Amino acid sequence: MNEVLPEASAAPVYLNVDAQPPVAYSPSVERVEPDEADAIADIEQSLQKIADITYRDEGRGLRAVHAKSHALLYGKLHVLDNLPPLLAQGLFAQPGTYPAVLRISTSPGDLLDDKVSTPRGIALKVLGVQGERLAGSEQATTQDFLMVNAPAFNKPNAQKFAGALKLLASTTDKAEGAKKLLSALLRGTEKLLEAMGTESATLKGLGGHPLHHPLGETYFSAVPFRFGDYIAKFSLAPVSPELEALEGVAVDLKDQPDGLRLAVEDFFNRNAAFWELRVQLCRDLDTMPVEDASVEWPQEHSPYLPVAQLTVAAHAPMTSEARHREEDALFFNPWHGLAAHQPLGSVNRARRSAYELSGRARAERNGVAFEEPGVAGAGRCPFR
Ligand code: HEM
Repeated sequence: MNEVLPEASAAPVYLNVDAQPPVAYSPSVERVEPDEADAIADIEQSLQKIADITYRDEGRGLRAVHAKSHALLYGKLHVLDNLPPLLAQGLFAQPGTYPAVLRISTSPGDLLDDKVSTPRGIALKVLGVQGERLAGSEQATTQDFLMVNAPAFNKPNAQKFAGALKLLASTTDKAEGAKKLLSALLRGTEKLLEAMGTESATLKGLGGHPLHHPLGETYFSAVPFRFGDYIAKFSLAPVSPELEALEGVAVDLKDQPDGLRLAVEDFFNRNAAFWELRVQLCRDLDTMPVEDASVEWPQEHSPYLPVAQLTVAAHAPMTSEARHREEDALFFNPWHGLAAHQPLGSVNRARRSAYELSGRARAERNGVAFEEPGVAGAGRCPFR
């Protein structure tokens, strides 16, 4: 792969001296409600139902959510030099360059026409990371970051998410025509709401999301993580001019059920891409809560600050066969990583068994044994 790293950014203005200091991480920032275990059991049941239906429909084990991918990309993550101590935490404690794998997806568990427009996701796996591991991922050297194109999650906790997922599980089937119609209708409604200055996360989640280019989006972890001595949310923001030019640009999906994948392939045929990985430090547990994932942490009190650059070189598209093979063997999971980046809060706790269940089901059905890639795993990159 060509070396595409840009000059490291000039040291940005990291610290506003008037800003409140970040909250120190301690296990006491998490609080488990008594009914959380029941909610997690409900979530598992819904995910199993979705996975069973899509296996019946497609004859292939799919991810129980985020089944449809629009790109599988290989790149490099460069941790910035000279980060101040507040930001030099966990993976970001030392400057360095790591191989990285990315998968861009949309959130439903079934493989829908791209005109059914739902939230977008990006999963980033950093390879060859050293340090104390989270329980359950001791054997690996990967650090995963999973993000969607919204700064907060659509539900506050596992209990509320369990209800929403039940609804999603009951609409997982091939009734795509109806979903397309609903999606178009909701998009219209969303445009009206936006014109009035209101945004509706619920409508967007149901299929009213604008049909924007996935490479122009800014992605967010939406839920908090331990950030070494502190607590933070992550984001991945487009910074190269070619990516920034795609912000808010609609993709023409007429007669193109997989038009988003084609749009991404067309981009990388001609361009490299640079993103910034940023963190937003928690500076006040009341306005930046750990347990309520639906609260957007106010950026005016704690802006997202760059800690690393992600680069992907221009390349020719992979064949569908190669992409499916690679994606089936990859398992992104927020619980794959360093103890210094432990997932926090109710939604994140629920994700622990949810990803295992979905991953195990599709691995068995596809006859794949997951093995977290080491640095050599980046050698699988087909355009290297
Ligand atoms: C309780 C809440 C959640 C549950 C139960 C859940 C569940 C899942 C499951 C089962 C998968 C598929 C796993 C596999 O087979 O590989 C998945 C994938 C994914 N999730 Fe979540 N998730 C939750 C919250 C979130 C949040 C908060 C985000 C980010 C903001 C997120 C982003 C993603 C992304 C990007 C993928 C696709 C990963 C890939 O490309 O392989 N999820 N989720």
